Amino acid sequence: MRKNIVAGNWKMNNGLSQTQALISDLKKQVQTSEAEVMIAPSFTNLWPAFESLRQDTIEVIAQNMHFANNGAFTGEVSAGMLKSIGIKTVILGHSERRAYFNETDESLAKKVDAALVNKMRVIFCFGEELADRKAGKEEAVVESQIKNALFHLKEEDFQNIVLAYEPVWAIGTGETASPEQAQDMHAFIRKTLADKYGTDIANEVSILYGGSVKPANAREIFSKPDVDGGLIGGASLNAEDFFAIVNAF
Ligand code: G3P
Repeated sequence: MRKNIVAGNWKMNNGLSQTQALISDLKKQVQTSEAEVMIAPSFTNLWPAFESLRQDTIEVIAQNMHFANNGAFTGEVSAGMLKSIGIKTVILGHSERRAYFNETDESLAKKVDAALVNKMRVIFCFGEELADRKAGKEEAVVESQIKNALFHLKEEDFQNIVLAYEPVWAIGTGETASPEQAQDMHAFIRKTLADKYGTDIANEVSILYGGSVKPANAREIFSKPDVDGGLIGGASLNAEDFFAIVNAF
């Protein structure tokens, strides 16, 4: 079901004590919006974060998972392992995993399937490179990423899919997409979904924007009709900034 969501992707930041300190600060924040709030610590901090937030409305989610249930995959973590510690949502397809860990649309399709089979919710990331946008190919790139990784799914699968459009050129750069650029791409994404699955399904999928969302720009971006919230990197590492974004609806 389509909801406003703000998820903090902590990436490879925070050991145990920093995690506990940041969660303590997050607990002190006042939420004035109706958004669903999530944080994605690294694997080593998922259990302590989950335990710390067990009585809170902030959901603890994972940054990645492997597609296999178990086996000889040194260093990897399965959906079942995540579920065993209470994790119900996983980020998949982040551009940093595509760039540094050779994740492809095809391998991501397998991870999406594994997450859905395990009844997990997926925040599926995609987005174009600066060169794609300069060449006017941003829509073709995004359409290809979505179709190759998701268009084998059944209509009902989209109840557990959240989309996150993250233009690579906006991630960590301070070069935020303009609210108009975000809205244009989100509308294109929703139409691409509707052309395949119908408008009823497309209108029920949350589409998040990610890429240098900050307290100063969040409200205008989130005000756009096809933007349902954000996937937040750097600003999620500061409790006040993160909740300024959570409350920017
Ligand atoms: O997954 C969200 C992340 O890629 C955005 O990072 O630092 O630009 O908010 P940042």
